[in-house]
Amino acid sequence: MSGTYLDYNATTPLEPRVREAMMPWLETTGNASSVHAFGRRAREAVEAARDEVARLLGGAPAELVFTSSGTEANNTVFETIAANHDGGHLAIAGFEHPSVTEAAARLERRGFEVTRVRSTVSGVIEVAAFEEALRDNTRLACLMRANNEIGSLQPVAEVAALARERGVRVLCDAVQAVGKIPVSVVDLGVDYLTIGAHKFYGPLGAAALWVRRGADLHPLLIGGSQERRRRASTVNVPAIVGFGAAARLARDELPDWAARMAAVRDRFEDGLGAIPDVKIHASAAPRLPNTTNAAFLGADGEALMVRLDLRGFAVSTGSACSSGKVEISPTMRTMGVSDDEALASLRISFGKDTPQEVAGRLLEAVGEEVSELRRLRLAGSGS
Ligand SMILES: Cc1ncc(COP(=O)(O)O)c(C=O)c1O
Repeated sequence: MSGTYLDYNATTPLEPRVREAMMPWLETTGNASSVHAFGRRAREAVEAARDEVARLLGGAPAELVFTSSGTEANNTVFETIAANHDGGHLAIAGFEHPSVTEAAARLERRGFEVTRVRSTVSGVIEVAAFEEALRDNTRLACLMRANNEIGSLQPVAEVAALARERGVRVLCDAVQAVGKIPVSVVDLGVDYLTIGAHKFYGPLGAAALWVRRGADLHPLLIGGSQERRRRASTVNVPAIVGFGAAARLARDELPDWAARMAAVRDRFEDGLGAIPDVKIHASAAPRLPNTTNAAFLGADGEALMVRLDLRGFAVSTGSACSSGKVEISPTMRTMGVSDDEALASLRISFGKDTPQEVAGRLLEAVGEEVSELRRLRLAGSGS
């Protein structure tokens, strides 16, 4: 596909070295549960990948459960809470990914109480606000490491320490953080951590839930005895092998990746200064090195995204269009961003291989399209 892909927080391309590692497993057969030589070879490949992913996160291989997606991993934790408790309370950040917010809402419908902790306007959940949300009957505290829409980093280690002191289990969704910043289960001190390969140059179809030794897990899928009976179904050998290869690359190359992404992102953000009335969300907060989310006041974010798409730039907005109506992103809502600003926002997420010159080309296109949209709005014709 031609064009300039700048939506790396949605998904990343497969790294050629990951693809190379996967290729033999796309052509070879062998169920990793089988006893024969084909099965044993597949199992060895899966276990080697498990070692790589565990090393990336600083955990033990036996603590990892491979899943098909980050969504499945997050859902599994909520179903574990539901299986272990008749009711109780959950504290989640208001801007968690839908795989968390919807799972929490489902438990709410089953009688649990849910507190959605609001973010400050700078995009960070305050430790004190999260602490205030904890109750005697809180069963789970959930805080993502990096927000997918604005890239702000959250004080997971601090919140986890407070929660675990009170005997509350802690889930950290680290799907957006891995491959962009270091992620260590030891440093974060959580009970559960979610990661997905396709956000850091691995394949779709491979993700994992890290489960601290001693923390329980109720399988979402039951049937076979795969994954130590914690997730039934035949393991996806090629995808898991790719996941392991991506984890190895991330471990070896992260500082270089982060520096390259930050360089192009900073160049772009510096250039935004020349466009009037632009507000970069969470600019004062610690952020991922690759993400810019900015409001172009007086321009419609959806229209801007479509116009950039026509010029070959793939970017995104956090708003969702449903039943012909644009809905404000829950992230912006929980941050207290005004509707006007939220609807004027655009997310650009750069990748490790985005050429530095893209910043200049994108700035030129954004500058022109924003001027045009503002002109059309002033002329009263919309766009
Ligand atoms: C923060 C976060 N968590 C979880 C997910 C879910 O990942 P998947 O769609 O691969 O299941 C995503 C995907 O965008 C995400 O950004």
